[in-house]
Amino acid sequence: MLHDAIGKLEADGTLTKPFMWGTATAAYQVEGGWNEGGRTPSHWDTFTHSRGMANADVACDFYHKYPEDIQLMKRLGFTHFRYSISWSRVMNGKLRNEQGIQFYRTLTQELLANGIEPVVTLYHWDLPAHYDWREESVVEAFADFADMMFSELPDVKYWITLNEPWVFCFQGYHFGLHAPGAPGSEKVSDMLHCGHHALLAHARAHGIWKERYAPSRPDAQLGITLNSDWFEPLDSNSAADRALSDKKVDLMLGWFAEPIYGLGDYSANVKGYFGGALPVFTEEEIAAVKGSSDFFGLNHYTSSFVDSTRGEGFEAEVRARHGAPIGAKAGSDWLYIVPWGFNRLLAYIKRRWNPKSIIVTENGVSDHDSGDGDVASLINDHGRVKFYQDYLTEMAKAILEDDVPVVGYFAWTLLDNFEWDKGYVERFGLVYVDFTDPGRRRVVKQSAEYVGGLMAQADSCR
Ligand code: GAL
Repeated sequence: MLHDAIGKLEADGTLTKPFMWGTATAAYQVEGGWNEGGRTPSHWDTFTHSRGMANADVACDFYHKYPEDIQLMKRLGFTHFRYSISWSRVMNGKLRNEQGIQFYRTLTQELLANGIEPVVTLYHWDLPAHYDWREESVVEAFADFADMMFSELPDVKYWITLNEPWVFCFQGYHFGLHAPGAPGSEKVSDMLHCGHHALLAHARAHGIWKERYAPSRPDAQLGITLNSDWFEPLDSNSAADRALSDKKVDLMLGWFAEPIYGLGDYSANVKGYFGGALPVFTEEEIAAVKGSSDFFGLNHYTSSFVDSTRGEGFEAEVRARHGAPIGAKAGSDWLYIVPWGFNRLLAYIKRRWNPKSIIVTENGVSDHDSGDGDVASLINDHGRVKFYQDYLTEMAKAILEDDVPVVGYFAWTLLDNFEWDKGYVERFGLVYVDFTDPGRRRVVKQSAEYVGGLMAQADSCR
């Protein structure tokens, strides 16, 4: 069915290039080499070190092992690779770090030389330790960093400014589970300022891109990656549950998507919900934010039911209906496997914002590593194969039945890696990594062969 869906996109002209088929990673989660080559600390280094948590000092050692990983992707059949840049590797304050920049030049060239198109995220949560998303100064700092990277990596055709501002603002400046670990339960304004500055930083980078780089790189695109769960009314006959479902999707996805793909400003719902705590855009900012993404980058993992009789915050999100779970629980507490939710979210995005194209920049599932040494069951990951089968089928249905213009798909993730505050216990990789081995041995899982192989089959059908 996936191949029929791709055929449809080709036939109706949505797909002007081959379907993007890749895996996604993030610098801090895989690179290691935390103090090598002139890299300075990010707030994730200081957060994990100061609290004695698991850290990513070595992680998958991608910093040294990337040539091997590129050969692996190539052999598996992936045509694209999403990596992110460690800002504090390429800049020390306002200064350039040549060695760090060279790392990404070489990585990019090595990918291209192996027929793999890089998709580059500028910011995947590893803020240089001296910046703070609550402060406005981060906007210009990000713009300078983006400008430098656009100039240094002229061969990159896909740029993503930020990964999931909802998560890094919520988890970093509200729940405090992620760096910088600043809980602010009453101070929603911290999280809202983070989000506001993220939108402005994205828009500034987009402005620089359009003015200085896009004219000479007509093939290249720039966008942002937003994340969303799907929220299904618990009782589809209940108008209140249906209204809450809309409200929840709007608070999670619409918070960022409405300014970018809609009116340039926060939705009436978001304004009403947060009231006076929500920063206000100037007319000039609205003009800069509106339309500032060439594609809709979407990360999606899970869904909940919403029960309006319980309230409208997190308490209203439930994972069972009449005692029946919404889906099986994966290796992460928050991740229930709900393939049909992916379909509904894609259809919702098409209905509401009608973007030219959608790139699924992350989708995947975790296993919990109990540490009992049963590596075989982690490698023979039938559950993950089934996850991809089912989610990809729902994606294909969205393309075929609802005309949703999905032009790319990135599995999260290539390698088992540092899963933020959960450390190394939750494994999302298509490739197993032995974190007890100083050489960080990789073992290909069944899911890697399955997902990689899907596109090789599509190519041979052309
Ligand atoms: C995303 C995030 C990734 C990864 C994944 C699995 O929100 O972008 O870095 O951790 O979730 O939890």
